[in-house]
Order: sequence, then structure tokens, then C-alpha cells
Amino acid sequence: AVTAPPVEPRDLEAAARAVLPAQVYDYIATGSGVEETLAANLAAWRELALAPRVLRDVGRVDTSTTVLGTPVSSPVQVAPTGYQRLVHPDGELGTATGAAHAGSLLALSTRATATFGELAGAAGPWWLQLYVLRDRDLTATVVERAAAAGARALVLTVDTPYVAKKARSTAFPPAAVSPVLVPELRARGDEGVWQDPGVTFADLAWLAEVSGRLPLVVKGVVRGDDARACADAGADAVWVSNHGGRQLDGAVPTARALAEVRAALPEEVEVYVDGGIRTGRDVVRALALGATAAFIGRPAVWALATGGAAGVRDLLVAMRADLEETLALCGCASIADVTPDLLRPAHPHR
Ligand code: FNR
Repeated sequence: AVTAPPVEPRDLEAAARAVLPAQVYDYIATGSGVEETLAANLAAWRELALAPRVLRDVGRVDTSTTVLGTPVSSPVQVAPTGYQRLVHPDGELGTATGAAHAGSLLALSTRATATFGELAGAAGPWWLQLYVLRDRDLTATVVERAAAAGARALVLTVDTPYVAKKARSTAFPPAAVSPVLVPELRARGDEGVWQDPGVTFADLAWLAEVSGRLPLVVKGVVRGDDARACADAGADAVWVSNHGGRQLDGAVPTARALAEVRAALPEEVEVYVDGGIRTGRDVVRALALGATAAFIGRPAVWALATGGAAGVRDLLVAMRADLEETLALCGCASIADVTPDLLRPAHPHR
């Protein structure tokens, strides 16, 4: 059988760069500050060496798992990134369709350029990423609309009290690509709807109540004490993230924060991670450190830019195949076989 060549995230980025206006490419690729954390996110996964098991039966390898009860074909899901119509006319709808066809979940950004109604048509499971806005009533309205449109969870991003200064992108995106999620947000444009920098754990408890039967995920946590406080305030899952190196530059790479967060939480609270996840090896490392799912940000945007919905699907399918091979070579026949003893940290005392 003729198989398609593997889709390498690195090659995808080069291909996307070739088709995108420089300003758009820079907006997506950039980190904050001098991009210390952007680089460290990628490097930190590679510092975790794998110690494969041998003589296990890996004649069949199953990559499927569940995330907050939703069955998915692999632990790789799509992280929220804003303004996707900047890179492809299908925007978030294309990403949602591609993710659905690959059996993965999509987290839709508050700054999406598609409506909830469009998402509902993509027929795959999706979550809404949210900021607590200055206007609490508006925040509650967005939550209600998302729930009514079929969102399966709320993801509150908490690492962005202010938007950090980007290294390679200033004053972008322009107001012309304001989010179109709900009429209330559209009417106000970006100005009135920025996140409230005064949000605390007390608001988390409020949101857990407002979200009703929708599970609440808190995204942007890198400390054990914060993770525990999130769970105490009603979070169902904690997402280890430094916003892909776009918020606090110098923040700990997520590969080095994950174990502390996992250890601080009761077993029933799921843990997710993103930041520099590019290969099946990275996914196995994340699972070994206790993650239930690993999310990709930029690679999905590069795939959308170059191939629309099919591009996103092909990337996720290729990452799943890469994960399958890695699992087999690690002596793991399923996701449940991935345990912490598979890892040998390069600097155990750091
Ligand atoms: C983001 N990210 C993000 N996160 C969020 O909660 N809401 C958002 O609107 C956005 N927007 C956004 C735009 C762009 C262009 C990027 C690159 C990232 C952060 C994103 O969800 C995720 O945390 C990182 O992208 C993960 O890192 P990698 O996979 O890009 O290395």
C-alpha cells in the first residue's frame, strides 16, 4: 500500500511561512519577551529520556483514550488559538472539521473568528476557551450560549491578566479581525471585552457555579499550590500551560511543571499539557508525567494555513501514527501502559 509521507510539524511551519503574509506568520510564531520560554518549551521535552520496556506484546497498539469522559482516538487535541480566519478562509470551522475527522477534540478560542452556530455544524466535540471578562453578566451570557450550542466543557485561561508584549509582533491582529463568537462580543469589539486582571480563585468558584453541568478546566497553571487551589474552587481539570511562551517570558517550561501539578491534585482531577508538543515522543513523555491529554497550538494553525480542514486532519493522523510507533517501541500496547518509570530525567536534581 502507498502511504502518505509523515507530516512533520517542522516542515508544516516552513510551508505555512511560505504562504502566509509575514505579519500573520510572525503573529503566530512569536513568543513574548526574548522568547526564552518559547525555546525552553521545545527543549525541555527532549531532556526527558525514555527507558523502553522490552519483550512486551505490542502486536496491537491502541492509542484511544477519553478526555473528561469524551472518547478520542489519541491523547493529542487542539489548543485554542485566536483569529484562525487570518490563515485560511475556513478558520475555526476548518480546524473543527479536521479535528472531528481525526477523532480529536477542539478547544475554541474566545477570540475565534467563527460563531458557535458554525461550530455546532462541524459535528465534532468541542470546548470553549474563556476569559473572565470585566463584565460578569456578559461572561455568564457567553457561557450559556456555548452550553446551548453544544460545548462540552469550559476552559478558563488564567495566565493572561494582561496580554504580554510579543517579541516579533506588535499591534496585531488589527481590530478588523475582531472575534465573532457571540453578538454581544461582536458589538463591543475588542475594547470592552478584555479579560479582567482582578480575577481570583473566588471568581473560579463563581464560574464553576455559572457553568452548571459543564465541566470546568483551568488553563495556564504551572504550580502545584495553584493547581490544588483550582481543584478546591471546583475545577474538574487543570491544564499546564505557559501560553506557548506568549505570556511570562522566563516561565518554567511545561515539561518541567507537569509532575508538580499532577502530584498536587487528587486522582479524579485530570491534567492536560501544552507547549512545544511536536512528536509522538513528546506525547509519551507528557503521559508518563501524568497528563491525560496533550494539546497542540501552532502546529494546528500551520496545518490549517497550508491544507484547511484536511491539513488539520492529516497532521493529527500523522501524530497519532507517530505516537503508535513510539508506544510500540516503548513496549506499551495502550495509553494505560504509559507510567512514570518510562522516563529518565537528564538532570534529576535540578
Ligand atoms: C494562542 N494561545 C491561546 N490560548 C488561549 O487560551 N486563548 C487564545 O485565544 C489563544 N490564542 C493563541 C494564538 C496563537 C497564535 C498562539 C500561538 C497561541 C495559546 C495556545 O492555546 C497554547 O497554549 C499554545 O499555543 C501551546 O503551545 P504550542 O503548541 O504552540 O507550542
